[in-house]
Amino acid sequence: MASGNGSNFEALVKAAKRSELDAHICALVVNNPNCEARRRAERLGVKCVVHDHRDFDSREKLDQALVKTFSMLAVEGVVMAGWMRIVTSILIDAYPNRLLNIHPSLLPSFRGLDAVDQAIKARVPLTGCSVHLVEPEVDAGQVLAQAAVPILSSDNHLTLSKRIQHQEHQLLPIAVAIAGECWRSV
Ligand code: GRF
Repeated sequence: MASGNGSNFEALVKAAKRSELDAHICALVVNNPNCEARRRAERLGVKCVVHDHRDFDSREKLDQALVKTFSMLAVEGVVMAGWMRIVTSILIDAYPNRLLNIHPSLLPSFRGLDAVDQAIKARVPLTGCSVHLVEPEVDAGQVLAQAAVPILSSDNHLTLSKRIQHQEHQLLPIAVAIAGECWRSV
């Protein structure tokens, strides 16, 4: 699931193509028809399904459509890789322990919007990225994997975001592999 640029989606697809991740990324779902993530899916040869959030009159209705799509695709798990919509228990309960999210901070620090900006403003020496299970409370579920990124005195939002994203692209395939091991052992 992606809403914007889709670089984490691409990192997952490439890790699977290189056999670094034992997974088949069967589809991308986007909520913005014109997002770069959709164009990446086309370039990478991955099916893309559009569920424009503006076509639904509630978060629950959008999530019902997502569950229907994932059920038709018979997915084992779902990754929110830059999904900029709050999800409801409709989606969360359909994939217990199988819905992951990536967030640009060392959770539980800096939950919510613009975690990079929050870290810069807090003047902490270290931030990073986390992959966690999704719960109804935003950015609050069990953390599966994290990577740390130092904040340099020369950093601004752009330079720090770039270094965090670089780590995200390494971390996400590892976290999906960890989650997959758990799913297959139950
Ligand atoms: C990532 O920084 C992720 O942590 C956050 O949204 C961003 C998505 O980036 N949830 P991209 O669309 O994968 O490039």
